[in-house]
Amino acid sequence: MQVSLGAIRRNAVRAGNITDTLLNRAADPPVGKEICDFARLTLDCLHFLRPRMKKITPKKQLEPEKYWIQCDESQIQQVLINLLLNAVESMKRNGVIRVALAVHEQDGAAWNRLRIEDNGSGIRDADKPFVFDPFFTRDKKEGKGLGLFVAERIITKHGGRITVADADLGGAAMIVDLPRVGGADANSSIDSGR
Ligand SMILES: Nc1ncnc2c1ncn2[C@@H]1O[C@H](COP(=O)(O)OP(=O)(O)O)[C@@H](O)[C@H]1O
Ligand SMILES: [Mg+2]
Repeated sequence: MQVSLGAIRRNAVRAGNITDTLLNRAADPPVGKEICDFARLTLDCLHFLRPRMKKITPKKQLEPEKYWIQCDESQIQQVLINLLLNAVESMKRNGVIRVALAVHEQDGAAWNRLRIEDNGSGIRDADKPFVFDPFFTRDKKEGKGLGLFVAERIITKHGGRITVADADLGGAAMIVDLPRVGGADANSSIDSGR
């Protein structure tokens, strides 16, 4: 009996180490430094997801060439696709997803704030503190619980933050703040990157 308990403990530790390594690899790739148009990136993701959004009305407030961010484009796309898919999955049939970009000033800094809101099932207040935890999944047949965990890691690595709130539409609102790259700054960074 003692031998098997020891073996169980060793296996549990090993499994924990493997999980840590895998999660760190999945969530911590290096951050690239391209200057990207946050609005176009979001529009591209909405376009990519059209086949999954046939019964969904998207409402877009995404003016191009106003919201520049410095980022690894494919990582931010991964975040946006995770957030949009969560919104789609929260709806039974017909739904509305509102995606809006605006400048948000706080703590003396300027952020590009992306709000993705839906009229789906929403997130219970009791669940809100846990949705970014690894393997937290609720009300899904095949949820892995890694989408928001990875999303938060990526956004944090980009110097931003991601939060959850209730949407005016009735469902969940996911709010992504990324540091704003100003017009002149954006151009000089693009030039120096060549
Ligand atoms: N837009 C949303 N509407 C309702 N619930 C959501 C939304 N986004 C996330 N959630 C909740 O947060 C949980 C964690 O999301 P995520 O990390 O993407 O894992 P998964 O989608 O695999 O379950 C989901 O299972 C769901 O309960
Ligand atoms: Mg998900």
